[in-house]
This record gives sequence, C-alpha cells and structure tokens, in this order.
Amino acid sequence: MLLLRRCHGLTRFGHVHIQRHHLPPAVLSHAARLCSTHDNTSHRHLSGFSWKHGLAGLLAGAGAVIAFGLHRHEAEHPAAAAAAQTAESSSSLPVFGQEEVSKHRSLSEGVWVTFRGGVYDITDFVAMHPGGEKILLAAGGALEPFWALYAVHNQEHVLEILSEYKVGELCAEDLKKQEPAESSDPYSTDPDRHPVLRVNSLKPFNAEPPPEILTDSYITPSAFFFKRNHLPVPQVDPASYQLQVEGLPGGAVTFSLEDLKTRFPKHDVTATVQCAGNRRSEMDREKQVKGLSWGISAISNAKWSGARLRDVLLAAGFGPDVAQWARHVHFEGLDKDVTGAAYGASIPLNKAVSEEGDVLLAYEMNGEKIPPDHGFPVRVVVPGVVGARSVKWVGKIAVSAEESSSHWQQYDYKGFPPGTDWNTVDYKSAPAIQELPVQSAITSPADGALIDSSDGFLTVKGYAWSGGGREVVRVDVSLDGGQTWQVAKLRSSDEAHEAPPPPGRAWAWKLWELTAPLPPPAQELEIICKAVDSSYNVQPETFPPIWNLRGLLSNAWHRVTVKIIEG
Ligand code: MTE
Repeated sequence: MLLLRRCHGLTRFGHVHIQRHHLPPAVLSHAARLCSTHDNTSHRHLSGFSWKHGLAGLLAGAGAVIAFGLHRHEAEHPAAAAAAQTAESSSSLPVFGQEEVSKHRSLSEGVWVTFRGGVYDITDFVAMHPGGEKILLAAGGALEPFWALYAVHNQEHVLEILSEYKVGELCAEDLKKQEPAESSDPYSTDPDRHPVLRVNSLKPFNAEPPPEILTDSYITPSAFFFKRNHLPVPQVDPASYQLQVEGLPGGAVTFSLEDLKTRFPKHDVTATVQCAGNRRSEMDREKQVKGLSWGISAISNAKWSGARLRDVLLAAGFGPDVAQWARHVHFEGLDKDVTGAAYGASIPLNKAVSEEGDVLLAYEMNGEKIPPDHGFPVRVVVPGVVGARSVKWVGKIAVSAEESSSHWQQYDYKGFPPGTDWNTVDYKSAPAIQELPVQSAITSPADGALIDSSDGFLTVKGYAWSGGGREVVRVDVSLDGGQTWQVAKLRSSDEAHEAPPPPGRAWAWKLWELTAPLPPPAQELEIICKAVDSSYNVQPETFPPIWNLRGLLSNAWHRVTVKIIEG
C-alpha cells in the first residue's frame, strides 16, 4: 500500500542540480539566530525540470513516501545513514522559525518540512519521486501528523534517510507549539479486533483470518472478515450521518441513515470482497514487490444489506439526460488523512446504475449493523469488483464524466507488465482495476502440513471466486504437482441456502472440497488448485508472466506442499 511507491533514480533527473548541506553563505551567516527568516532557495536550480510522472497520493503521506524511497536509497548509498547521523548531531546548522519553513511549499521555493525539531529541505526528494504533489501537501509543516497516520513505517529507519536532507533546526518556541500534534494518535479510537486475525499492519489496521478458518463457513463472520484500512477508522455518529450525492441536475442532495433505510427497498446481496493484493506474498517470493504481505485470506464473503445505489441515484435526479454525459460514479469515505484528503474511488456509471450491477449502499453486514472496521454506518459494496472500490464510511457520491482523481484510483490498484519497474512505471498508462480475474486457493491442508496416511485418503479444501459476476464452474485439484487433475466438489450452493445466482451475477465465492486417495508411495505431495469461471477463464500456471511491481492480481495456481507420515 503506502510503501509501494519508489523514488526514481536521481540519474533520471540529471539536469536537476540540488545541493544538500551546502547552504549558501547568506544562510550560514544567520545560523545562530533564533527564529530567523532565511531564504535559501537560491542554491537550487530547477530550470528545465520535467514533471514527467503522474503524482502519487497523499495517502502515502510524506513520511510514507520518504519511507518508501529509502529502501532503494539505502541500497544505493550505504554511507547515507552514517552521513545522516553526522548531520543529525551537527550543531552548526541554522535555526529557522516556523514562519520561514512555511514559505517553502513548492519546487520553486523549495520544499521544507520539520520533524522532531529538525528542518529538512526535501526538494531533492520530491524531484526524484513520482508522488511529489502529495508530498507537497506536507510541505512547510510538521511531518509528525503524517508519521502518526502511517505508523506502519519504521520511524527510526526512515529518519536516517530524512536526516540527509537536514538543513537546520526549528526554533525552540515553534517546536513547543508542535507538541500536541506529536502526541496525538489518530488510531487511538480504532475498534478492538479479534486476536485470531493475522495482522499485516497495525496502524492503519490490516489483517486477515487464518486460512484454516476462512473456509469453515460460506458466510465469513464479520469478526474474521479481512480488514483493509488505509487510514484510521472514522468515528461516525449514525444520528447525524449525511450522505451527499452530487453532480446531478438540481444540485446536491443529502440522505440521512434513516432516509436510506426507509425511503428505499432493502436489498440483500451476498458478495465476496477481495483485496487486489490478495496472495501478494506468493508473487513476492518470485521477485520482490511492494505492498502489505497478504497471504491467501485477503478475501471474505458476507451478506450485505442496504439500499441499491441505483435507487438512490434515481431519487437524487439521475435520468437518461445524465446518462448522455456521465461515465463514472465517485465515492468518498469519511476517513481522512491529516490534510483532509479522504479515501476515494470510482466505478463506471453502467455498473453503478444497472439493475444487474447490484451495487449497494450497505448498512448491514451479515444481518447486523456494519462493524466500524467495515464501514459503519454505510459502505458501498460493488460486487464482482476489486475491494478498493467498495468505499467504506461513504460520505459523498458524485456522478461525473471523469474517473475519480483519488490517489487510489489513479496511482494505485493498477496492473503493469512484468518488465515495468519503479523507474519506468507510468500510472497514466494503465486502467484502474475494476473486475478481478478468476482466483482460487487451498485453505487446508496448510503448506508444510504433516498428513497422516493411515486411512489412505486426503481431503483438500479451498475457495474459488471470479470477478464481474462470472460464476466459478469448476475447480481442478492435483495431488501430484500437476501431472493429473481431479474435479473438486463445489460446496457452497448446498450450504448457502440461497437460490443459484442469475447468469452474470455470481457475486459470492464457491467453497470447494476434494477427498481423494493418497497417491501411491509418496513422501511429499505438491497439491495444486486452479479454478475455471463461466467465461472459461482459468488461472495462470505461474507467477512470472503476471508479476507486477505492486504484487496485485496475484492469481497463479495455488500450490501447497505436504509431507506424508505413517499413522
Ligand atoms: N474505504 C475507505 N473509506 N477506506 C479504505 O481504506 N479500503 C478499501 C475498501 N474501501 C478502504 C475502503 C480496500 S483496498 C479494500 S480491499 C476494502 O475496502 C476492504 O474492505 P474490508 O476492510 O471491509 O474487508
């Protein structure tokens, strides 16, 4: 997620000449003055700089961006940390007031930030980084609030790199004023979570259930449903909650929670939500990718209930005239970062307004009010589409001719070819992920499990799902590394007590199971599964052809190796 952007090689910006730690005499002469107001922009020569890349998100936050860039930076400049520490402890740096720091908020004026009493000129870093525009949101101010927001990053480690950009100290008086920002933890009001969850990051909270319990139930209990948050969980008062719908003739319309519950028919949709990064850890084993190290459980299935988005849009003024020009529907969450930027995404208009799209403004999950982690009081559920578009805590909806400009729509959750790396990636060149490809995984036995051979049989269990409402029609399982295949029994239709989905509207996963004789004398088995959907799409065999730098859409055949032991 946030650490996924990388700084581009400085060589790409060879024409940008920026000196660090070599302050002009004019600045150094003021070094001892408290709260001075220097202008050291003259040491920077940015003419001819080409702002080639699309700019990544605030979501990254400046702290995150720096964290992100440091991995490569450290590899390339092993002496950097040592040099940084020297700069850190230096007492010969000038002292600046917040007023002066605040003036440096652009590439032309320089990009300065403060952190733990130091003043850092990160213009160089911004120039190297495709997320520059978002870093600029932190410019002129303190990094601490960003740091608190992206607490997932190892702060001391990041500080080492940041230190290289140090140009001065913040005056004592202004440092004191920053203290409240440093101590506040935006995650302090996050809800309690079940300890069984495997935590990928605590702040923001990202966790998945252990695979062995994932497929014990067709409907995933909410407590075990995977949780994917980019920001702190917002505290929303259901009584004062307002959903604003914009972009339609007649102006903005707002709906209370009560409106959504009483003015529109309540629809139930059983839908699987899958994160684009599900199974990233396997792709990462092929070749390193950037992102949270999800296992096979960043996917879960729930019964969602609420008003249809279509109905709400129609009530807000959507009609055939709007369909002439509108192409997208945007969603904005009530979770915001320190600059006020909300989580956001968009889906194509057709999906949003089609009767068959089944897009919900859900206020219930599994028959109960939606838990805080999953979007209380109202979340969007976009069945068949990557989880990133199912915006939680939705506060605003807008009908538009354009896609959402949100970071998560434009600079994340896109697929790239295996040959694209962080030096060549052009986020504008790829479409935002919407419908997901066919997926399946083995939840039991676990990789490395010891199998008792005494009854001569082995039971393999797992899940399978495909995006776009394409039903999984078959799951093939091999117990011998892919030499022979058997067809698994699709369990879910028996267990769901639900009518089979109409064609093209299979939003829920299928749980599957195969019990088969153990292959003769084998001490180790490689078990593989692959699913086939109603369009006869099948999972790719291996990861290399689908490898991408963010580790998204990771759906190669799933393999586990088990050892057979005598009972
Ligand atoms: N909506 C908001 N407002 N904020 C978020 O961080 N995360 C998205 C999506 N909706 C997110 C959001 C992502 S990337 C996913 S995969 C799903 O929520 C996860 O939903 P869940 O936490 O209910 O499993």
